[in-house]
Amino acid sequence: MAFTLPDLPFDRTALEPHMSGETFDFHHGKHHKAYVDKTNGMLAEKGLEEASLIEVIKAAKEKGDKKLFNNSAQIWNHSFFWQCLAPAGSTELKGELKTLVERDFGSADAMLEKLATESTDHFGSGWGWLVLDNDKLKITSLHDADTPAAHDLVPLLTLDVWEHAYYIDYRNERPKYLKSVLANIVNWDFVAKNLDGKGLDRADQKQKATADA
Ligand code: FE2
Repeated sequence: MAFTLPDLPFDRTALEPHMSGETFDFHHGKHHKAYVDKTNGMLAEKGLEEASLIEVIKAAKEKGDKKLFNNSAQIWNHSFFWQCLAPAGSTELKGELKTLVERDFGSADAMLEKLATESTDHFGSGWGWLVLDNDKLKITSLHDADTPAAHDLVPLLTLDVWEHAYYIDYRNERPKYLKSVLANIVNWDFVAKNLDGKGLDRADQKQKATADA
């Protein structure tokens, strides 16, 4: 009767040297896990034991419950983020996604530059996003734990710009981290798949008791 910490979709060292196994030990094994544990610890008192993860996020937002919102939104954001990553050289930006990127940004490089700048310039903790907005690709960023799951945005790709995402491998150098991730370990196949508008579902979770029913 609880949400679970999803497994990484790759080995913990598969993204080195761009993202280290040690980073995953902390970022996935401790930070992401803490969001799962804290959310699970609040569900009974809130009467949300049978809600899906997105339902919990929306209920917390509606009630102004910041603690539940922040923790549950961070479960979703991280679950989506891991799927946005893949070992270097395993995927490429191509096909329909490439066509749309060139239509809406001029070129793939221009889109990557815009996403890197938006994410670098986001003040404090948050997430950079490539989203689909009325059939047009857009770049934006959301603050702290805020999430497309609370706004019904159609997410395609995200970048975690909390310090815990890059401090072990890049210290304080957020631009260097973003450049390295964008140039090497984005899972473009996953990003392209999200053009179907179902990205929100790909990091949602039904709670075990419901799923088993
Ligand atoms: Fe994070």
